[in-house]
Amino acid sequence: MSSKIRAGVIGLGILGSSHADYLAKRPDVDLVALADLRMEAAEAVAQRLGVKAYNNYESMLAAEKLDLVVVATPDPLHRAPTVASLEAGVPNILQEKPFATTRADADAIYEAVRKHKAHFFINFANRVAPLDIATRYAVQAGLLGRVVYGESRLDDNISVPTKMWGSRTKDWAAGSSTAFFLLSHVVDLLRFYFAPAEVREVYAISQREVLGYTPDLYDAFLTFDSGLKVRVKAEWIKHIDDLVEFYMCFSGADGTLIYNKRGAFGCEPGWRANINKAIDAQTLLTHQTRLAELGVNVAAKLHRPSPEAGALKAGGGELLPALEFYGLGYSEWMALDGLFIDAIQEDTLTPKGWQNLGPLPSLEDGMRQFQVVDAIVRSAEIGKVITLD
Ligand SMILES: NC(=O)c1ccc[n+]([C@@H]2O[C@H](COP(=O)([O-])OP(=O)(O)OC[C@H]3O[C@@H](n4cnc5c(N)ncnc54)[C@H](O)[C@@H]3O)[C@@H](O)[C@H]2O)c1
Repeated sequence: MSSKIRAGVIGLGILGSSHADYLAKRPDVDLVALADLRMEAAEAVAQRLGVKAYNNYESMLAAEKLDLVVVATPDPLHRAPTVASLEAGVPNILQEKPFATTRADADAIYEAVRKHKAHFFINFANRVAPLDIATRYAVQAGLLGRVVYGESRLDDNISVPTKMWGSRTKDWAAGSSTAFFLLSHVVDLLRFYFAPAEVREVYAISQREVLGYTPDLYDAFLTFDSGLKVRVKAEWIKHIDDLVEFYMCFSGADGTLIYNKRGAFGCEPGWRANINKAIDAQTLLTHQTRLAELGVNVAAKLHRPSPEAGALKAGGGELLPALEFYGLGYSEWMALDGLFIDAIQEDTLTPKGWQNLGPLPSLEDGMRQFQVVDAIVRSAEIGKVITLD
C-alpha cells in the first residue's frame, strides 16, 4: 500500500487496547477509530491515543472507511464483528484467536473472508517467539529424527477463570473453555512446528468438578498423519503462584526437545534440544548459525551426560551434541501485529521480515485450529475418538 493504513479496533479490553497501542505507534498506520459496547473502555483508550470512540461497531463501520479492522472481542463473539467488517468492505481483518467457538461461526467467518477476497490474519502470537521458531527449526531440520511423541501442558492460574475480567469473568469463562482459550494456541503451535503434518484423530477427556460454569480442564491425545502422537492438557483450576505454566517435550527417534516456556514454581524457563548424536561439531555450529539468522541465539553444546540417581546409573558418558537456550519462551506482546502490517504493505503472507518460516497464520490455519479444538470438545462429550479429514 502506498498510503497509510487506516485502522480500527473492535473490543477494547486487555488485548484490544494492546493492539490499539501498537497500531498507534506504527508510522505507516493511521489508527482512526475504536468501538466497544462498554463505551468507557473505548473512551479510555481513545482519549489516550487521540482517536474517535464508538459504542458499537456498526456505527464505526458506517462512518469510517477502514483498510484494517482488529477484532478483539471475547472468544464466542468474533463472528459478528468480523463478518460485519467484511460486509462493510474492509479488506484486511486481524482477528484474535480462537478462530471460532462453534461450527456455524467458523463456517460463517470462513465463507465471508472467501466471498470478499479479504486478507485474514489470526493472532497466534506464539509463532513469533524465538524459541518457538527454534522448535520449528529443530523439527524441520530433522535434528530429532522422526518425532513420534510429545506432551504439552498449558495451564492458567485459577484466577484467570475466576477473576481476570472483573465482574464479567464468570460469563467470559462460561463462554469459552481451556480448549478454546488455551489449546487453540497449542494446536496452532503444533501445526507450526510439524508442518505439513495435520491432526487426523482426537481423543479427549474433560471434567467439571470445581468451576461448574466452565470445564476445569481438557486433556487430549492428538494423532497426526505423520504418526506423531501428542498429549495436550490445559487446566483452569491450578492454585499456583504464576499466571501461566507452559511446558512441552517432544521425543524423536534420534533426540529429545524440552521446552519450559513458562516455568512455574522452582522451575527455570529454558529450551534444550538433545539432537542426533551423529551430527558432528561443524554441522552443529552450522545449525547454531542458521538459528542466529532466524533471530534465535542458542548455544551449541557438546556434553557428556552421565545420568545417575542413588545407586542407579545409566548412559556411558558419551559426547553428545545439543542446542540450548535459557530465557524467556515468549516474545513481545504484539510482535505478530508488526508482521501482519508488513504483510498488508507487501501484499504477501511471507513479508521480508518473515522468511523460511512458512506463511503468517491466516484463514486456513484458523479453520484447522477450530476443527481440532472442536474435535477435542466433542470427543470429551461423547467419550469417543473423532476422526478429521
Ligand atoms: N493472542 C493472544 O495471545 C491472546 C491472549 C489473550 C487473549 N486473547 C484473545 O483476545 C480476545 C479478547 O480477549 P480479552 O482478554 O481482551 O477480553 P476482554 O473482555 O478484556 O475484551 C473484549 C472487549 O470486547 C468488548 N465487546 C464484547 N462484545 C462486543 C461487541 N459486540 N462490540 C464491541 N465490543 C464488544 C467487551 O466489552 C470487552 O471490552 C479473546 O478472544 C481472547 O481469547 C488472545
